[in-house]
Amino acid sequence: MKYNPVARETIDELIEITGKKNVITNKEKMEAYSHDETPAEQYGHMPEVVVTPETTEEIAKIVKLANRDLIPITPRGAGSGLSGGAIPVFGGIVLSVEKMNRIIEIDYNNMMIVLEPGVVTNEVNEQVAEKGLFFAGYPMSVETCYIGGNIAENAGGGKAIKYGVTGRYVMGLEVVTPAGEIVELGGKRVKDVTGYDLKQLIIGSEGTLGIVTKAIIKLLPLPTDKVDLLILFKDVKSAIGMVPRIITGARIIPTSIEFMDKLSVKTSCEYLNEHLPYQKAGAMLLIEIDGNNETQVEEDAEGVGELCLDNGAIEVYVADNYTTQDRVWSVRRNIAEAFKVVSPHQSLEDIVVPIASIPDLMPVLERISNKYDIQIPCYGHAGDGNLHATLVKNPESSMEEWYEIEHKALKELYQATKTLGGTISGEHGIGSKRKPYMESVSSPVELELMRKIKKAFDPNNIMNPGKIFDLK
Ligand code: LAC
Ligand code: ZN
Repeated sequence: MKYNPVARETIDELIEITGKKNVITNKEKMEAYSHDETPAEQYGHMPEVVVTPETTEEIAKIVKLANRDLIPITPRGAGSGLSGGAIPVFGGIVLSVEKMNRIIEIDYNNMMIVLEPGVVTNEVNEQVAEKGLFFAGYPMSVETCYIGGNIAENAGGGKAIKYGVTGRYVMGLEVVTPAGEIVELGGKRVKDVTGYDLKQLIIGSEGTLGIVTKAIIKLLPLPTDKVDLLILFKDVKSAIGMVPRIITGARIIPTSIEFMDKLSVKTSCEYLNEHLPYQKAGAMLLIEIDGNNETQVEEDAEGVGELCLDNGAIEVYVADNYTTQDRVWSVRRNIAEAFKVVSPHQSLEDIVVPIASIPDLMPVLERISNKYDIQIPCYGHAGDGNLHATLVKNPESSMEEWYEIEHKALKELYQATKTLGGTISGEHGIGSKRKPYMESVSSPVELELMRKIKKAFDPNNIMNPGKIFDLK
């Protein structure tokens, strides 16, 4: 695909559409838009221009311009993604929704919130908590990520075992299509089978099928009680082996079952200057239970704790007040960031398998770690089968050696994951990082259907090109 460069006239036209203050051409300022949180420099790419439109109509005009002049356009939220989805790999225009950050309506009667894509996810909960409501999505970047990015990636996170992922809560979307048309998909209706579900197609399409400009999100009643358990195990095997047992044996659905190996907890604790008892344990589970009856929640938590102790847990710590709970979760949420600071050369993975198969992943990681002489610390959302194994460059390898090892180790890891009935991304997406591996997990028929859908939405391939798969 041959794209045209952003010309002086393009910039003038963008200024006409959005005003001068919303067009960035300064190289230093544009640098912030050249990468996301993917921990590896090779995925970065500079935009030719960044625009920060303030309305849907402005976005529609910008997309029409990009189509007319064949200029690639990359939508961007907070840039907290982990697969290069918001990076303009062909340059062109980066369209940041940072100024589309209004909450339009809190519709208490329908238990929904209508908002623009640039609202920070945590803010949704801050706004609706006093009405006794909450948004059930809980990505670990909840304090920085935007709701628009959550929708584009169909973000998962720490509560998916009980509450599912973002897509479950998206009732309606306003989208600017890659042709620059404005379309409303879905609405405040709980049921709707009017034709194909294009809304669900947009969710998780990584900004390749359009730009979300407004969303209607379903809220749930905020549980009044919750207890968190930090459960210590002697090693990885006993901690992870416990996960399917809790799911089938505890007779409740926990809100979260998060896994952290020793290195993950230690690295995050040191980064935050926090103290969790990781010296005592080879691995930990962080289990949350919520509900509306204090006694019931306590009993359920006690039951889970006992089940773990009966099956070899070393110790169970109970966090039943906000401060302690937040301290423990902060350690969990900051693992990825902490590893990035300590080991800048790494591959943060997002593999997902059926929950019953999660213990089978551990010998695979051990084998790959030994074979390639690399450390693979691991943490993640064990309760839904989604783990963040992180392949870390051995300091003694050269960068060339590392790239080769990374590729070979990833191929092996992905193949083993597939054999277990899993796949290569549970929540971070394919973006540009995993694009070379799409064919190893998707059949030719499936890929061809995806390509045809992309072409139907975006015949000129200007909307976030170079992501997920190549058009042939
Ligand atoms: C997490 C991010 C990396 O779970 O998805 O911490
Ligand atoms: Zn995660």
